[in-house]
Amino acid sequence: MNYNKKTVKDVDVKGKKVLLRCDFNVPMAKDGSGVITDDKRIRAALPTIQYLLDQGAAVIACSHMGKPKGEVKPELSLKPVAVRLGELLGREIVMAADVVGPDAQAKAAALQPGQVLLLENTRFEKGETKNDPELAKAMAAMAEVYVSDAFGAVHRAHASTAGVADYLPAVSGFLIQKELDFIGGALANPKRPLVAILGGSKVSSKIGVINNLLEIANTIIIGGGMAYTFSAAQGGTVGDSLLEEDWKDYSLEMLQKAKDKGVKLLLPVDTVIADAFAPDAKSQVVKAGEIPDGWQGLDIGPETVKLYCDAVADAGTVIWNGPMGVFEFPAFAKGTEAVAEALSRTSAITIIGGGDSAAAVQQLGYADKMTHISTGGGASLEFMEGKELPGVACLLDK
Ligand code: 3PG
Repeated sequence: MNYNKKTVKDVDVKGKKVLLRCDFNVPMAKDGSGVITDDKRIRAALPTIQYLLDQGAAVIACSHMGKPKGEVKPELSLKPVAVRLGELLGREIVMAADVVGPDAQAKAAALQPGQVLLLENTRFEKGETKNDPELAKAMAAMAEVYVSDAFGAVHRAHASTAGVADYLPAVSGFLIQKELDFIGGALANPKRPLVAILGGSKVSSKIGVINNLLEIANTIIIGGGMAYTFSAAQGGTVGDSLLEEDWKDYSLEMLQKAKDKGVKLLLPVDTVIADAFAPDAKSQVVKAGEIPDGWQGLDIGPETVKLYCDAVADAGTVIWNGPMGVFEFPAFAKGTEAVAEALSRTSAITIIGGGDSAAAVQQLGYADKMTHISTGGGASLEFMEGKELPGVACLLDK
């Protein structure tokens, strides 16, 4: 796939209406108060919005939030995003009551250069996730240029992430550009050795990533729940740990592929086990593959921590996707924390996939020590799998 795409700098937006797709799918407080608990994604869109305004454009921003499945769900309204965006930009945001309905159309028509309009949640429209051309056309009709900066949603071929590009000149914003530069650069032309750290609970959700990175990386480190499937596949006992029986053979294939390709594939040598999945469970350290019944692995052990930290010490590039253990429980966060700490010390380029890994690095206080933390969970995963990203493919080539 070609990632060399035109950017906002390659088009003249002066006096034009720009439809800007952002990923404002931000976490909200569960009490329905409308409080945004992490505004990172809104902040990440500011450089592009500010640039467009400085160039004399009128910005029609849009985004999805949650999965309302084509229905209007007030709790998934983007109104709180408009408030926060206004605070961050220091200017009033005009909020539309719909996506392409009469209110949005009237407000878009009246919008002046230097003003920002935010459309309602694009997924309130049934056609959004179906990439309905009629919806894409209606969105495009409100503007003259399409800019996508929604990296978190580029793996979705939806009307607002890909369809609109059929009707407007389509370019990328600075956030997409940054993500493509860092993640794309690490995959296409990494400073070596390239070490990939893969964690998280399931082998099944990381198949594509392991497979693709076996073609690229020098070392692959496996942690998190998926390590138990590898362990069981090699004849280890894993007690009550997470285990995907159906993926044992695949794990063995990956071990063989690593051997064939000369990739060092590191698995845990010891494990912190617990007598329950609970923050205050009784715990002890055992050798990997020797977990008794009634116990489950919740973190990598101290020998493994040492092995993994040594492996990243002289890396040129490290890509990390997925925590090493149940980092949400402080007693089982040590492995994830030690890896984050090791990454903060290395001189390697450190790239953290979005989702859980980004949350872990942030929660543990190492966010500002990393070279790049992706704003995309599923998107960064699919990028690392080597899949085509529809929200990038639709943009104009340079
Ligand atoms: C995300 O949070 O990963 C993106 O906003 C995409 O959301 P989705 O998985 O609902 O498409």
